[in-house]
Amino acid sequence: DWNMPDYIAEAVESIRKQVGSDEVILGLSGGVDSSVAAALIHRAIGDQLTCVFVDHGLLRLDEGKMVMEMFAQNLGVKVIHVDATAQFMGHLAGVTDPEAKRKIIGREFVEVFQAESAKLQNAKWLAQGTIYPDVIESAGKGKNAAHTIKSHHNVGGLPETLNLQLLEPLRELFKDEVRKLGVALGLPHAMVYRHPFPGPGLGVRILGEVKKEFADLLRRADAIFIEELRNTKDDQDETWYDKTSQAFAVFLPVKSVGVMGDGRTYEYVVALRAVQTQDFMTAHWAHLPHELLGRVSNRIINEVRGINRVVYDISGKPPATIEWE
Ligand code: XMP
Repeated sequence: DWNMPDYIAEAVESIRKQVGSDEVILGLSGGVDSSVAAALIHRAIGDQLTCVFVDHGLLRLDEGKMVMEMFAQNLGVKVIHVDATAQFMGHLAGVTDPEAKRKIIGREFVEVFQAESAKLQNAKWLAQGTIYPDVIESAGKGKNAAHTIKSHHNVGGLPETLNLQLLEPLRELFKDEVRKLGVALGLPHAMVYRHPFPGPGLGVRILGEVKKEFADLLRRADAIFIEELRNTKDDQDETWYDKTSQAFAVFLPVKSVGVMGDGRTYEYVVALRAVQTQDFMTAHWAHLPHELLGRVSNRIINEVRGINRVVYDISGKPPATIEWE
């Protein structure tokens, strides 16, 4: 159990000792672990750290803007923002199989990251937000298991050709400690306590073929759902966002009939998913208040042209998974 200011001082000291005057690169995903690692390493070595933020076009609404604001503007971290949307969409065109989609996203991510890293010729270290549970999880999986790009750890290996040493300053910490560290380093509470987001992003929340048009609709529907969850507060000052472990919208590429004014609509469906879980291995669907669900549905249908029907997922895990793909 660490006292955070002491922990930060000690970690900063040890990072400085480890890397000396070398340059470090870090793949920033917008997730909690890579963000906290970036903030900590930046605290230690400032401009010797360069972050690479790969936008695969499957991120949540305004995620790129938020990451750039928080790290580049507020903290003064060097961040290379790569918009690789076109590349990812190109490779995903026509692909409907969930595992094939994951593989493509993982492979392209590694490729883009590697290309950017190669431009930073003086980099000697690859920093990753590996946390203690990841270390345990990969222990049984062979010697290269830890050598994976963390934010997409299920989908791609770290290319040997990068020839970088690993810097993993969060290796001893549990998730709740990482969060406390993030807050102590000045990261916004809402960022540090965000629900987890899968590496393949909206790619596994758009069923079947991924298209930019679908991602754009889903992003807006998802943002409305999250905003409404955050806008609820009970007597304990807890919101439904806090009370759920993960909540998101899923794009269903089927059209159904609706009415609007005098006319008939024929548009896509969005499913809402909200779960409560301790370990993400099993999960219950969240009993969200009907008024909240109604508000979210009304807003999505009124504000997101192209969606005319919203449904709520009432499946537990098992047998359903949390994500739809
Ligand atoms: P499932 O859908 O298997 O999800 O019940 C369990 C947890 O894992 C996350 N998840 C992923 N995370 N890459 C990731 O980084 C993935 O491909 C992936 N698939 C699922 C999911 O969001 C949930 O938290």
